[in-house]
Amino acid sequence: MNDLATSRRVQTLPRSGIREIMDAALARVDVVRLDIGDPDFPTPEHIVAAAAQAAADGFTHYGPSRGLASLRAAIAEKVVRTNGIACTPDNVVVTTGGSGAIFVCFLTLLDPGDEVLIPDPGWPNYLGMASAVGARVVRYPLDPAREFEPDLDELEGRIGSRTRVLVINSPANPTGAVLTADTLQVLGRIAERHGLWLVSDECYDGLVLDGEHVSAASVVESHRLLTVFSFSKTYAMTGWRIGYVIAPPELARVLATAQEPVVSCPSTVAQKAAEAALAGPVEPAEAMRLAYRRRRDAGLAVLDAAQVGYMRPRGAFYLFVDVASARMPSREFARRLLDAGVAVVPGSAFGERGEGWVRVSLAASENDVCTGLGRLAQSLAAPTHIPPT
Ligand SMILES: Cc1ncc(COP(=O)(O)O)c(C=O)c1O
Repeated sequence: MNDLATSRRVQTLPRSGIREIMDAALARVDVVRLDIGDPDFPTPEHIVAAAAQAAADGFTHYGPSRGLASLRAAIAEKVVRTNGIACTPDNVVVTTGGSGAIFVCFLTLLDPGDEVLIPDPGWPNYLGMASAVGARVVRYPLDPAREFEPDLDELEGRIGSRTRVLVINSPANPTGAVLTADTLQVLGRIAERHGLWLVSDECYDGLVLDGEHVSAASVVESHRLLTVFSFSKTYAMTGWRIGYVIAPPELARVLATAQEPVVSCPSTVAQKAAEAALAGPVEPAEAMRLAYRRRRDAGLAVLDAAQVGYMRPRGAFYLFVDVASARMPSREFARRLLDAGVAVVPGSAFGERGEGWVRVSLAASENDVCTGLGRLAQSLAAPTHIPPT
């Protein structure tokens, strides 16, 4: 491989197990796609129209590296109003999606050899980003017996002298868990006690299905807390690539400087689209959230009828389904289920603790969700009847 003379860091970047199943699914016809974490709804019309107008108005050039002042002001207002976080535009850095936000946080906070605590199971891209900045990933377990809340003693036991960053994610991918104010406060105290930066990934904050989203920064007082948000999921805007970080002003300035050489600035026309998302009617986003909730309830009814275990998701748009009774690695189960015409993501793609589970996306029609889960239940009832790959 080294004849291509690529860096060792790039050669060792972990590949996402989500992509692996997506590629396999793409190669087939007639597959019910429950693997994708991308809303099946179009971006609401008023947002698309505002972007077209902005392009016509000349928002087609470089902008400030920390984002357009008008968007930062709108974001600050949203964060105060919706998330209960004290915020001014000086706290806001606009980024290329939540991904760009998390990457720039890692780039800013982690030196090579430093350790970052990542939930297990958790979003696989955290690993690639940590590895890209030369940091070492230490996983901390989420406890299936407690609705995938972090095991706080285990977490604290994994903090060492090189640990710098604790990543938390609520609502969570892949489990759909939503952290309570109490748990967030304990996590805040652990971070404070050990002098860690807390990076709170709240990219699904607009997709809480039961109860309310609690932002870590609304219940934890700390100057070492960074919150990451995204327009991708709430507004079906995954392709526009706009997210943001809320951080103390002095740190926000550093984050903006850090992203400058990588992206120059986030896409200007997409930022105008994001502005329209915040200023426009709330009904389109609310209709999507309610649709995910209906699909969740319909999907859970299928699993209940078949007596298949699951984690009841309170947020995001995934069902985490217990497939331990198949008595095979979840990757193998997902491969076989693909042969039965359903694409889901093996839990092992999210870490060792995801083994025995699969992630089912609710970003598909209710009919597809129910058909796919029906086939999954059949496969569990008679695993040997699925043709081997
Ligand atoms: C937990 C989590 N955080 C962050 C992201 C980043 O999304 P984006 O870069 O589209 O904002 C995702 C996307 O799937 C995610 O699942």
